[in-house]
Amino acid sequence: MLLKFLGHACFFFEWKGKNFIVDPFITPNSLASEIAIDSIKVDYILITHGHEDHVADVIRIAKNNPDVKLISNFEIISWFGEKGLNGHPMNHGGKYSFDFGTIKYVSAIHSSVLPDGSYGGNPGGFVLWDENTSFYIAGDTALTHDMKLIPQLCPALDFAILPVGDNFTMGYEEAILAADFIQCEKIIGCHFDTFPPIKINHEEVKSAFAEKNIEFHLPEVGETIEL
Ligand code: NI
Ligand code: MN
Repeated sequence: MLLKFLGHACFFFEWKGKNFIVDPFITPNSLASEIAIDSIKVDYILITHGHEDHVADVIRIAKNNPDVKLISNFEIISWFGEKGLNGHPMNHGGKYSFDFGTIKYVSAIHSSVLPDGSYGGNPGGFVLWDENTSFYIAGDTALTHDMKLIPQLCPALDFAILPVGDNFTMGYEEAILAADFIQCEKIIGCHFDTFPPIKINHEEVKSAFAEKNIEFHLPEVGETIEL
């Protein structure tokens, strides 16, 4: 699978012939000014929670992709539903078999409010799998023991996307512990450098993962990682 980093916590990937974008936050992100948002073609938009830095470009991308379907929690799907967008609502602990594979919406320790102040439900993450691949998109979260449930409930993870920027989410030290909790040895970092409080020292973070023998990628905006 090819995973393209579009800045902050936004990723694009193709899976089973469908195109997905996660937590689109491109136009407000000065680090992502090279990303041509209006040429993004997607079938699904995954939204972990309601914060602006995860939903800012949902409506713009949906306008460019009239058949797109959102996947998120019930409250976020309802809020975008009032704006005319189609979606599949989920809630924590639930999984659903889509025609491309299975998605489970899992716990995150964070907060969630939509841009107009509406209640955004509880924040979450996603585990996605099919018969060949399994991966975890943590969303914004602290380290939580609930992560230990993932290897018990889902197929063994091939890779995971974890926040490493600290301040608003866990930092890299906890992400290293999270890799152990989820029994995953291939980690992609996100939610770093976008804002001053989450600027990180790349070399320090990379060497901390290397010391634990965890394969770790800290992607550049626009970089594609082969997984
Ligand atoms: Ni957030
Ligand atoms: Mn965030």
